[in-house]
Amino acid sequence: MRTRTQVGIVGAGPAGLLLSHLLALRGIGTVLVETRSRQYCEARQRAGVLEDGSVALLREAGLAGRLDQQGLEHGGIYLQFGGERRHVDFRDLTGGRTVTVYAQTEVVKDLIARRLADGGPSAIEFGVSDTEVADLDSASPVLRYTDSADSRHEVVCDVIAGCDGFHGISRAAIPASVLTTWQREYPYAWLGILADVPPSTDELIYAHHPGGFALHSLRSPAVSRLYLQVDPADNLASWPDERIWSELDRRFALPGWSLQRGDVLDKSITPMRSFVSAPMRYGRLFLAGDASHIVPPTGAKGLNLALADVAVLAPALDALLHGDGRLADEYSATCLNRVWRSTHFSWWMTTMLHRTPGADEMETQLQLSQLRYVTSSRAAAASLAENYTGSVPLLASTPSPQ
Ligand code: FAD
Ligand code: PHB
Repeated sequence: MRTRTQVGIVGAGPAGLLLSHLLALRGIGTVLVETRSRQYCEARQRAGVLEDGSVALLREAGLAGRLDQQGLEHGGIYLQFGGERRHVDFRDLTGGRTVTVYAQTEVVKDLIARRLADGGPSAIEFGVSDTEVADLDSASPVLRYTDSADSRHEVVCDVIAGCDGFHGISRAAIPASVLTTWQREYPYAWLGILADVPPSTDELIYAHHPGGFALHSLRSPAVSRLYLQVDPADNLASWPDERIWSELDRRFALPGWSLQRGDVLDKSITPMRSFVSAPMRYGRLFLAGDASHIVPPTGAKGLNLALADVAVLAPALDALLHGDGRLADEYSATCLNRVWRSTHFSWWMTTMLHRTPGADEMETQLQLSQLRYVTSSRAAAASLAENYTGSVPLLASTPSPQ
């Protein structure tokens, strides 16, 4: 089956879904294809923290109904090290900026519901296979896929957006001679659990510990999200619930404070890497989100970067489709500025807080010195707060939803 659309979008994660919505607000048609089922996309446990700018963007795009009711605004974090827990007060340090805890699962549910309500059941094609993109350096790139009923489709597009994550096919379709990539793998991974228990803290706790890093986050007043630094070769079988809770107890231990336990609802291990590929455009293919860059989760930036990319991409594609390619020409450089800032911040938070296996005592002392500095110098704390809450303003101006 051969059809036409203005923008073909590969991947219904946060980047692809938000792009499809922002383009729809501008009257631009999209075909959005996704290998997984709707249920899978809505249940996939990932990020949890939205920067101020991401919240404003979702609000501006008419997507913040549930976010405004259920999102939990946080004005700081705790850094724990050397037996102390110190607060970094974002509101005070940044002139009022905050972050909002609202799970990526909920962002994705809101986006899917809105696209299907506005565009009908065919607005997102779930369960596709054999996605291909071709003719990327022509004026009519082509998106091919097989739908869940086994029909093969060929969609002739004006533009294709590759929003298919790190392992997708879009970045791989760009000739290797055109791309430069930078990569760092870390010698540790995160074991994450979702627990059916109210959070034991009022703000997220990032803990440095001789046994490794731990993070106490949350999903709601009733559900906690906790992470442990583990060996990347570890598997879930070697981490029964009891071992996870006692390791969390050990790494968060503080006199007079205790961690509440609950049923473990979800458990996964995520590798950690920093990765950037540039440029984010090849001909009529534009990459956005994890398809183009990955950060370790310690800075809570991955989801925010994906949203920021498409906030820049939507007006650029709108102008391009109306004959003005200037914003599209600037797309890659505009996004990479933010991407590299977040890449540096995430690397910095990661290396300050994790224990490198086999590292000497010198590394520990350097980390502790840095942690004392960012919790005692106002200038250093302000830098952390500015980066965590999102320092570079989003450039998009989004038309108001009808
Ligand atoms: P994705 O969310 O990866 O979406 C890409 C979509 O494309 C997926 O739905 C995928 O199924 C689909 N797709 C892939 N290939 C194809 C194809 N060939 N055809 C069609 N569709 C395709 N960030 C944080 O800030 N904090 C965290 O705790 C955190 N935890 C994470 C845990 C994991 C396991 C992962 C992978 C990421 C995590 N991140 C975290 C990062 C954050 O979730 C991502 O940055 C964010 O999901 C990026 O959104 P995206 O839309 O670019 O990509
Ligand atoms: C989360 O809630 O999943 C979360 C929070 C902060 C991070 C990473 C993940 O830095």
